[in-house]
Amino acid sequence: MKLTDTQLEQFHTDGYILLPNLFDDTEIKVLQDAAETVYALDREEVFRESDGKTARTAFAAHEYNEAFRRLGRHPRLIRPVQQILDGDVYMHQYKVNAKAAFTGDVWQWHQDFGTWSRDDHMPEARAMNIALYVNDAVEFNGPLWMIPKSHTQGVFEAGHDLQTTSYPLWTLDRETITRLVDDGGIVSAHGKAGSVLMFHSTLVHCSPPNLSPWPRTVVYLSLCHVDNHIRRFKRPAWVAHRDFSPIECMSDDCLRQLSEHTVDSAA
Ligand code: SIN
Ligand code: MN
Repeated sequence: MKLTDTQLEQFHTDGYILLPNLFDDTEIKVLQDAAETVYALDREEVFRESDGKTARTAFAAHEYNEAFRRLGRHPRLIRPVQQILDGDVYMHQYKVNAKAAFTGDVWQWHQDFGTWSRDDHMPEARAMNIALYVNDAVEFNGPLWMIPKSHTQGVFEAGHDLQTTSYPLWTLDRETITRLVDDGGIVSAHGKAGSVLMFHSTLVHCSPPNLSPWPRTVVYLSLCHVDNHIRRFKRPAWVAHRDFSPIECMSDDCLRQLSEHTVDSAA
């Protein structure tokens, strides 16, 4: 699949694009099952909320779950990013973010490249997220909020917040957010399961808590141009990966094959 000129223009102007219904119900069911499986694992990569129990993020799930391994090499996710970043990409980070019903905690206002440059010494913002919605993201279950056009001003000053949630994050102050929102407003990135959100690595974003009875799993592939790989290895390799080899795509039906396989082996 290839992004159109209009989609590319929207990405460069606003800092994001939402592509509805890119994955079908069969593929989403495979991934919903896979998410439940990884959340139940007792592994250091599966980060918990402040309650110490509820899964918040399963890092590097492509390294220990077959469905997520395939998703990490899926042409519908990899090709559009290769197109925008103009060349081969490697996996800098892979997250399955749970945002569990009633419990899923906030992600404060931040820029992803702010963290990648400060913590991992990634040279340039030649990296970005592509996110797949594994559940519907609605008003009530903690969808992503973004400030359109905020990606155009580089990296903002940030403080390292070690208190607000169980996960340390470089976060922006209220004055900066107020100024940016005065200019660009806030967009809440609602979408059906199977939709895909692509956003620039300097786009300012956050997400509110999930007080609803509906879970909101989103899978984030953070992809980086191979020439722009990180220079510092401070964070664990399962948070900021050190394999800079170019991703080779699998076939378009790689997730569907897994569903057929499950049905076959159950028969
Ligand atoms: C992130 O910005 O890294 C995660 C936000 C979310 O999943 O709500
Ligand atoms: Mn982020």
